[in-house]
Amino acid sequence: NNSDLNIYKDYHREAAELYHHILVNTQLGEEALDYLHGRGLTDDLIEEFQLGYAPAKKLLLPFFDEHQPDYQKLRKSGLFVELKDGQLSDRFRERVMFPICNAAGQVIAFSGRLLHKNETQPKYLNSPETELFNKRDILFNFDKAKNAVRNEKSIILFEGFMDVLAAYRSGVKNGVASMGTSLTEQQVYSLARVSKKLSICYDGDQPGQDATKRALELLGSLNRFELSVISLPEKLDPDEYVGKYGEEKFYERVHSNLESELAFYLRYYEQGRNLDNEHDQLAYIDDVLKKLAQSNDPIERDLYLNRLAQRFNLDKAMLETQLTDLRSALQ
Ligand code: CTP
Ligand code: MN
Ligand code: MN
Ligand code: MN
Ligand code: MN
Repeated sequence: NNSDLNIYKDYHREAAELYHHILVNTQLGEEALDYLHGRGLTDDLIEEFQLGYAPAKKLLLPFFDEHQPDYQKLRKSGLFVELKDGQLSDRFRERVMFPICNAAGQVIAFSGRLLHKNETQPKYLNSPETELFNKRDILFNFDKAKNAVRNEKSIILFEGFMDVLAAYRSGVKNGVASMGTSLTEQQVYSLARVSKKLSICYDGDQPGQDATKRALELLGSLNRFELSVISLPEKLDPDEYVGKYGEEKFYERVHSNLESELAFYLRYYEQGRNLDNEHDQLAYIDDVLKKLAQSNDPIERDLYLNRLAQRFNLDKAMLETQLTDLRSALQ
């Protein structure tokens, strides 16, 4: 029901304001503010994304208590956890708070990052699924990115919050994040509504590369996007890349280093293989031919077939026959 949703949105807006106030104006938020500055975030950016801090002590409960709240609704808001005795308690403690907005820019959930490494708790804690927040539908920063698409003509998919923010301060404002979970069909439909061009810029580590392959498969199945990959060296994630090489270099990379889907797969198939070894070589050629068979661009197929033939000193006609067979098997 709509009026219930509005109440939940009010709670989230008030909570976001409070967390933000604690971070930027109070002693309680000092350490978290230093932490964010240390990670390269400016006060302007902290303001723009309304980042906040949830302190160790109870904050939201006493705040809402003052306003004669509907406890039944507070319970279902996702902002609290229920203790054994039925009492409510702030869900987020000692975490840097990232407000998560719907497409209209209204706060509907949070993710909180631990300030200090802690073996017993997850690094990021998200709001639970609520009437407002369906995790499968939401992309972090979608509300701002969809406007940036008008200038950039493309949208960029990142893994995490700090990656979107690092890109943003580099001038790359068309970034969104799927927040750790693998990309969902609903998220893909949202993306398709706002942009035809889409780039994936996941972490340079192995999980990031594997996730890139899965995302390409899902996005490709829709047949609606022009896809590309922005790859990063040294297993860096976008935030680490900006930290190491600077905002300008990242901006440049995003605007001039787009890798085609096929180029990504060639690199991907080569990983963990020694192409001087015959067994690995055959497996690699097999993977590449299967991928090439899916391409509907004859020039692209020819280009990569030539490369394969040259690189491994193979007969091109023989590769062509094999590719034709693979393609007819796909029909
Ligand atoms: N994530 C999560 N829960 C975790 C770990 C990660 O929800 N326990 C999500 C977060 O949205 C995170 C994203 O997955 O931003 C990517 O994870 P990872 O690369 O491990 O974290 P970073 O974004 O690099 O986080 P940071 O730079 O703050 O360490
Ligand atoms: Mn403010
Ligand atoms: Mn990662
Ligand atoms: Mn990362
Ligand atoms: Mn990171």
